[in-house]
This record gives sequence, C-alpha cells and structure tokens, in this order.
Amino acid sequence: MITCQKHLFDLDPEFTYLNGAYMSPQMKAVHAVGMDTLSKKNQPWKVGLEDFFEPVEKLKRQFAELINVAEPQRIALIPSVSYGISNVTRNLKFRSGQNIILAGEQFPSNYYAWKRLADEHNLTLRIIAAPEDSNQRGKEWNQKILEAIDNETLVVSIGHVHWADGTRFDLKSIRNRTNDVDAYLIIDGTQSVGALKFDNSIFEVDALICGGYKWLMGAYGLGLAYFGPKFDNGIPIEENWIHRHNSQDFKNLVNYQEEYRPFANRYSVGEVSNFIYVSMLSKALEKIKDWGTENIQSYCHSISDHTINALRTKGCWIEEIDFRVNHLFGIRLPESIDIEKLKSKLQEKQIIVSYRGTAIRVSPHVYNDEAEFKKFLDCF
Ligand SMILES: Cc1ncc(COP(=O)(O)O)c(C=O)c1O
Repeated sequence: MITCQKHLFDLDPEFTYLNGAYMSPQMKAVHAVGMDTLSKKNQPWKVGLEDFFEPVEKLKRQFAELINVAEPQRIALIPSVSYGISNVTRNLKFRSGQNIILAGEQFPSNYYAWKRLADEHNLTLRIIAAPEDSNQRGKEWNQKILEAIDNETLVVSIGHVHWADGTRFDLKSIRNRTNDVDAYLIIDGTQSVGALKFDNSIFEVDALICGGYKWLMGAYGLGLAYFGPKFDNGIPIEENWIHRHNSQDFKNLVNYQEEYRPFANRYSVGEVSNFIYVSMLSKALEKIKDWGTENIQSYCHSISDHTINALRTKGCWIEEIDFRVNHLFGIRLPESIDIEKLKSKLQEKQIIVSYRGTAIRVSPHVYNDEAEFKKFLDCF
C-alpha cells in the first residue's frame, strides 16, 4: 500500500483537485526534467545524435513493460489519440457493409475517424448507448456490447473505462467475442492506462491508443500507442525520415529507403525525438512503475470509499465496484439535490471536479487524501 504522494507535486493546498481525468498535475521531478531538456537547446551542440534515439527507445521500453508487451518496437509515440486512431482506421482490412462498434458518448477522438471511415466505405456505425435504468448499468452495458458483435463486425473500438463516468468494460470477454468473429479490438486507454492495470498478455488488443497527459502524467502533446501484428505492414498517415530503415546514419539520409523501421515505428509522429516531452513522460513512467497501478487503485479506493458509501445513503447513485474503477467515477444526483447549488458550494470551497448533465465526475489520484474527500462530502 502506498501513502499520500502529495509532496511530489506542486499543488496549492487551498485547492482540492479531484480532476485527474481532465489532466494530471505535473510532478516536480517531471517539471524539472522538462526544464533541463528545454534549456539544452540553448546550446544546440549539446543535443547529440544519441538524443534523437535513446530517450525514445527507453520510453518505448517503459511503456511496453507497463502494458506487458514483450516487444518495445510495437510502441509508437503519438501527439494525440486522434492521430493514433487515424493510423488504425487507415490500416484496417474490411468489406463493404461491415459494422463498427463504439460505446455511446465516447470521446470524440475515438469517434470522428470511425464516422469518416464508415461514410467513405459504406460501413455502419453501431453505437451502443448506456442503459437508461441505472441499477445494473455497467453490467447491462457490457452485455449490450457483447450482443452487438456479429459476423459482420469489423471492429470494436472503445475505452477500457468510459471517460465520462468510469464504467469499466470487460475487455477479456470483448476480446473473446471479437476473436470468434475475426474482428479487430482497438482500445483508447487514455482514461485508464497508468492508473489501472492493463495486461496485454490477457487482453491481446490489436491496438491501444493513449493520451499521455492524464494518467500517464506527462506533458500535454505526447501520448503512447501499441500496434499489434495486424498493423505490421501498414501505411502510416505521414512519412517522416526517422521511421525509415537506417535513419540513425545521418550522412546517408538521402539514400532513400523503401523499408520502415520494424513494427510500430512507422506510426510514431514526425519529430518523435521531442526531447522535452519524451524526457518528461519517461520520468513520469518511472514514478508510476514505483507506485504500481494496483497500489494506485487501492489507494484511491481507501480515500474515497467512506465518501461513496455516505453519498449512497443520501440517494446518490454510483456504479458498483465490479463495473467501475477507483480513479474515476460518476455520481448521479437524486432530485432532492440541486446541482447548481452544489456546484457553487464546491466552487466556494475550491474543490475541482467535472460536470456532465446531472452527473459529477470525480477522479482522484495519489496526491489526494481522505480529508479532501471529507471536504467534498461536506458540500452535499
Ligand atoms: C477517452 C479520451 N480519449 C482521448 C482524449 C484526448 O484526445 P486527443 O489526444 O485526440 O486530444 C481524452 C481527453 O479527455 C479522453 O478522455
């Protein structure tokens, strides 16, 4: 079990930040390494050939270890989720008339590229909305997704958890079902990887796409992705020099190469060596490894459990633990609680959460503590 890690962050004690799903605060060590690498270019001769490659290779190894993938060359560095998903949609093999399964109200960067693919190639989007009735919501939603998969399914592309309310999707069962019908499984891990265990030896997804500034705790602008064997010979959405064979040989760059560097390298963004962001994300992953995702989950559970139970007795609805995660959950309010009044109370107390309609999204991390949850509860 870990203890509160607030001392590693530069948070203002006047504020209660329960909004890691929006973006994580930066660790002091992550900020420091970012400032160091920022300064390095003041004297460009200090940026050597090895700086283009080694930090990137290290980051790929770190992420591969985090998601339990044996081959770091299957990891790509991406500037955004939309970029990663576009590389996926460009490289699927499909027949006209097939269907694409998405969860209702999922994040737009995992929607628009599918919509375009469907419009351009006569494919159908099947959007599986959350059940209206909230009692068995997570369980029924998972069932509805499984039932929607049929012989004409090309792909299921969803989150491991829903970004708006933390509903957990049962990736193992979805993988089994997609395998039955030979469909791809693509996961947007932005709201989970880094805080929730993701073991690709179990889920065996075809691609995992993650923004890096939330639960991976990096800067805004660099994320990470995994591309499985089905993408090995694909065509990337852009053609950068560094992803071609032998790109480390700077003298011979115009000896143009047909071949890409292996596996997922081709799906990395141009200027992948982005010294500042790479060093920051790498430092953050070191810390996440020290903590361990299972400890992050149990820590978030330990600080929020009392509040969740108390809110339920006040008539609030929060998903059962089997179908949600501890680092991100939605609270649906009973009619007796006026959301506008609650919002102003939270604002007055400088407690930061997110709002969606009549639901509140709360997303804690190891920099929070039980006293902050108590303060939050007192506003109800
Ligand atoms: C589930 C999910 N995916 C992706 C993103 C960000 O997408 P992008 O990196 O394309 O801006 C967010 C941001 O909130 C998100 O919650």
